[in-house]
Order: sequence, then C-alpha cells, then structure tokens
Amino acid sequence: MLGSGQMTDIASVLYAREEVRRRVEELGAQITGDYTGRTPVLVSVLKGGAMFLADLCRAVDLPLEVGFMAISRYGEAEESLGRVQILLDLDIDLEGRDVILVEDIVDTGLTSRYLLSVFGARGPASLEVCTLLDKTARRIAPLTPRYAGFECPDRFVIGYGLDFEERYRNLADILQVLDLPALRSDPRALDPLIAGSAAA
Ligand code: IMP
Ligand code: MG
Repeated sequence: MLGSGQMTDIASVLYAREEVRRRVEELGAQITGDYTGRTPVLVSVLKGGAMFLADLCRAVDLPLEVGFMAISRYGEAEESLGRVQILLDLDIDLEGRDVILVEDIVDTGLTSRYLLSVFGARGPASLEVCTLLDKTARRIAPLTPRYAGFECPDRFVIGYGLDFEERYRNLADILQVLDLPALRSDPRALDPLIAGSAAA
C-alpha cells in the first residue's frame, strides 16, 4: 500500500482510505442531523457513486431508501455537453420525498444539473446534492452541493469508485494522477497499486 502522499511518477495518494472513512462518517452524521424525523431517498449514479453511497448510507442513522440511476453521456462535443441519456431509471416515486443526489465527484456540474432537473420535475419535497469530491475549478453549471466531502484539486482522480477507462475503481485510497499522458499510453500502469490496496 502507498503511504499518504507517497509518490509514484504517475499518481500519488490524495485522500487516504482512513481520511475518506472519517469524512464519510462526518457527512453521514450531518445528514442524520438535518433529516431527523424524515426518510430520505439517497440516489446514486452508477458506477462511480456506488461505493460512496454504500458507505454513506451506513453512516446515516435514519430510516432511508437507496436508489440507483445509470446514465450515459452523448459525447464530449460542445453542443452535447451535459446531455445525458438515462439507461436505468429509479424504481422509487420521488413525489413528496426528501431526495439526496449522491455523487462521487462534481466536476463541470453538468451531470448533476441534468439529474437535478429530472428529479425536480418529479415533485420531491426537497432535493439536495451530496458529493464526496467537489472539483470546482472546471465548473460550468453553477452548482454548490449542500454536502461536499473534499474540495478536489483540478487533477484527474481515481479510486474509491472513480475510474480511468473503467480501471482502478477498487483502489481503497483516492489517488491524483500526476502524469495523465503516461496513463493514457499505458492504462494498466497503475495496476501494481491494486495489489495490497484491499481495504483492511
Ligand atoms: P461532471 O463533469 O460534473 O458532469 O462529471 C461527470 C462525471 O465525470 C463524474 O460523475 C465522474 O464519473 C466523471 N469524472 C469527472 N472528473 C473525474 C475524475 O477526476 N476522475 C474520474 N472521473 C471523473
Ligand atoms: Mg468515469
């Protein structure tokens, strides 16, 4: 396992698993306090948000429901930015519910903005965003999550659900990629970090 902050040439630990665990506990306690007496619906976006939702919901000491969405982006072209297609929709009626959109990372904010508009049209009693990482530097859609775990630097990050080309979601720590061109040319370059990364 990499120590906190220890470098390889390509990536280094940004938030070690213990730090993530503590912060998730804090967010859970905050949500518990804010939603006392209610039964919130925590909705996450596959696949990246699944790990965070799994840990977050167990840190909330309230009756609650969890739901998952799967979406795909149409493309990266300017005119299609923020246009997403729903591949899997919720099986929960949001009418009158207290909904919390649980995101792994809010980057441009376009995905969250789209989902907020979809959920908002379904008549929830309240609608908030809880993101583990808030990468504000590249924000396009003005959006300030009610709950944010960490203000994330303007770096590509992997681990704890976050992927690079579908890899590295199972890293227990959150890593920042220092040399993205190197990882692009060899997407398996960080495979050695997987060994020994299993959560204790
Ligand atoms: P958006 O730009 O806020 O719409 O973010 C869309 C999605 O891009 C996120 O839910 C992530 O799946 C992905 N994403 C954004 N930044 C990163 C990153 O640094 N690492 C891995 N995935 C990211
Ligand atoms: Mg991804």
